[in-house]
Amino acid sequence: MRERRPFVGGNWKMNTNAESASSLARGVVDACESIHSAVELAVFPPAPYLLTVSSIFRSRSTSTKIGAQNVFHQPDGAYTGEISVAMVSDCGCSHVLAGHSERRHVIGESDELINAKVRAIIAGGLTCVLCVGETLDQREAGQTDEVNQRQIRTGLADVGQREMEHIIIAYEPVWAIGTGKTATPEQAQATHKSIRGLIAELYTQEVADRVRIIYGGSVKPSNAASLFSQPDIDGGLIGGASLKVEDFGLIAKAAASE
Ligand code: PGA
Repeated sequence: MRERRPFVGGNWKMNTNAESASSLARGVVDACESIHSAVELAVFPPAPYLLTVSSIFRSRSTSTKIGAQNVFHQPDGAYTGEISVAMVSDCGCSHVLAGHSERRHVIGESDELINAKVRAIIAGGLTCVLCVGETLDQREAGQTDEVNQRQIRTGLADVGQREMEHIIIAYEPVWAIGTGKTATPEQAQATHKSIRGLIAELYTQEVADRVRIIYGGSVKPSNAASLFSQPDIDGGLIGGASLKVEDFGLIAKAAASE
């Protein structure tokens, strides 16, 4: 088994309703029961269903974790519509996404706001999945490493070496998210390797060797094993395929058998 325990997260995005979120949660418990020792699993349901999923997971004593798709960085106050780290923690979350491309590019979050969220998530005792990735134009202009480096340098500003224990990095090329186009295992490996190199430069080689760097962008059962077998790919963040229990289970198993 490799030294870094793989992580597979299901990002449900703005999908499901009370009924389908519950049945998806039950399905994930059933499908993934036997593989927890080999892979860390989490689902990221929409905020209104966090408590529902949390109570299902608790009643089934599963090791699958629950994460929030977003938080605001302030602890409380007049921020209509926003949700704090403490609130999602109360709802049973141990993980939170920050910097997902849909929040960067659809909602318009800046690197600085994302950094404030990353620091708030860690300060609140949760694990942050920091998502980074280049657009198609940026890749074609040869800016892939530059863009990822900027997003990571700013996203991790003022995050100390010890706090890196609570960071997972998700490399998600924007052109591969929800498009059916996946980075080839070689393309993804090259970017993961350079991200790990940057972490060694920013922290230490030991931190770089320990941090999990997961891949996201049209991961499916048919391509999961070839991606996860790359030396610097430590699992995946799964969007569309995480809404189908069978597909999510197969992807999680592919990570567990690496
Ligand atoms: P996708 O989404 O698997 O549907 O491409 C991945 C993500 O956005 O995390």
